[in-house]
Amino acid sequence: MQDLGGKPVIVRTYEATKDTRLFDEVYVVTDSELIFKEIELNGGKAIMSIKEHDCGTDRIAEAVEDMDVDIVVNVQGDEPFTSKSGLKQVLSVFDGPDADKIDLASLMTEIYDWKEISDPNSVKVIVDKENFALYFSRSPIPYPRDKNAAVQYYKHKGIYAFRKKALLDFYRLPMRPMEAVEKIECIRFLEYGKNIKMAISNIQSIEIDTPDDLIRANKVLKDGNNIVVNNQYRNFPMVPKVVYGRGSFDQLSSILAPQRKDKAPFIYLVDDVFKDNADIIDRMNLRFNDKLIFVSAEEEPKTEQVDTIVKNIKGEFTYIPSGIIGVGGGSVLDLSKAVSIMLTNKGSAADYQGWDLVNTKSIYHVGVPTISGTGAEVSRTTVLMGPEKKLGINSDFTTFDQVLLDPDLTASVPKDQWFYTGMDCFIHCVESLNGTFLNEFSKSYGEKAYDLCKEIFLSDNLSEVESRGKLMMASWHGGMSIAYSQVGVAHAMSYGLSYVLGIKHGIGNCIVFDHLKEYYPEGVRIFKEMKDYHNIKLPQGICNNLTEYQMNTMIDIALSLVPLWENALGDDWKSKITRDKLQDLYLKM
Ligand SMILES: [Fe+2]
Repeated sequence: MQDLGGKPVIVRTYEATKDTRLFDEVYVVTDSELIFKEIELNGGKAIMSIKEHDCGTDRIAEAVEDMDVDIVVNVQGDEPFTSKSGLKQVLSVFDGPDADKIDLASLMTEIYDWKEISDPNSVKVIVDKENFALYFSRSPIPYPRDKNAAVQYYKHKGIYAFRKKALLDFYRLPMRPMEAVEKIECIRFLEYGKNIKMAISNIQSIEIDTPDDLIRANKVLKDGNNIVVNNQYRNFPMVPKVVYGRGSFDQLSSILAPQRKDKAPFIYLVDDVFKDNADIIDRMNLRFNDKLIFVSAEEEPKTEQVDTIVKNIKGEFTYIPSGIIGVGGGSVLDLSKAVSIMLTNKGSAADYQGWDLVNTKSIYHVGVPTISGTGAEVSRTTVLMGPEKKLGINSDFTTFDQVLLDPDLTASVPKDQWFYTGMDCFIHCVESLNGTFLNEFSKSYGEKAYDLCKEIFLSDNLSEVESRGKLMMASWHGGMSIAYSQVGVAHAMSYGLSYVLGIKHGIGNCIVFDHLKEYYPEGVRIFKEMKDYHNIKLPQGICNNLTEYQMNTMIDIALSLVPLWENALGDDWKSKITRDKLQDLYLKM
């Protein structure tokens, strides 16, 4: 009943839950007259408990006993910031292929800090390979005899979704010793052999357990910072494992071996330029039911293409693959990232184009670039052409789990493609270094990549081998630079070109950038120098014969990329760039 921004906490929780629109009905179940009246007064639905109960689960079981319900979700009354995505995740497990086996579902969060792992107030959970709970404990589980062993710890979050039967069983069955000694309700389900499916949710929220929590929550509410709490600075994932070196491709199969799960294949998505390259294919060393899929990088990857690949994989194999390995340029790497996400998330890839829309962790995925410059190997996005837009799936689950950088793999790239893709990297640096989002983190990567690009594309004292190694690292650094920043005008306009005319990213960027000296004078000057040095001729007049409709679409696509414009021109970007201005620029290209 404490006040939170002018309403009692319980009312806030009730409204937040209702506002998710995930439920047919939302009730507050309580033994307090005061709470009951408050909810009714606010137009909500409340149920008074008849009997006395030891815990919330029992209270809810009694309330739903005579209701015609399928799934019941328990939201704690002191969690007004309960997030829609967490609830959605816990519900979505009932749509999974193993739904029949699930009695109830709950959430867990990855934890890393030993203080938290060993804190008895945080309940840890261990799961089997399908994410069914094996045990919950206040002790650190598993106990790390070897402190350096790589194991992920999970903290249990108190959100449950029950099948009605599991809930009623819980109510009727007496407490057993393990639940009693740990004082963790959900152990009762395990003690009676029920299956608890755990979903991973790493969204932080404020729970209100102490007066301090309430003060913090009031502040969050006042700042209009509704759900996501820890976002003053963004917390970005990085590629956790990377191998670099000439010939390191031979290590691929030994890197994959520990990730292999019973009967679950590795799927290799490989650029079809390697179709007749027996050497590369041999070195991948496919085993058992592993599958090789050649993909064309002729066109930019499409959401539809992702959906088809995912459908085929699901149709052919009973088990979710052990991993996806992308071997190719930016398009193939992006496709691989998207497929690994869509193997664990429902619907179409198009549903996830945007920022942080992915709920469930993707499967293990590995990137092996065979052309350098896009930064796709290190980025947390996967740029896809959808039915309505060209936009990335930007999420914490997009980033590769492993990257293998072998500069020798880039040896056969044709010269023009080498230039265009290398320029993608150069343009990433220029856009990041000249953007309003720039900070020292991005700058340190951007400056390094910028210098490497100048050395690679403007000096004549590098051997081909040296140049390949340097470009591979320039690509990495360029990608890192935009991870904590953004790209800018060239990318926004180039997305328009590729959406309407199907022009590929690398060359599209070059065509646009050539005309952007107003925005990036020094960068464009150096770009022109590089272009002349390598005798690159860009196509001209590509927008001359566009229909009005096509031109408008192109401008719409470019303008839809708000963060890119914000980075390039600042918060008031709308006053600095107009449709006419964009049309003028396009017509010059
Ligand atoms: Fe790019």
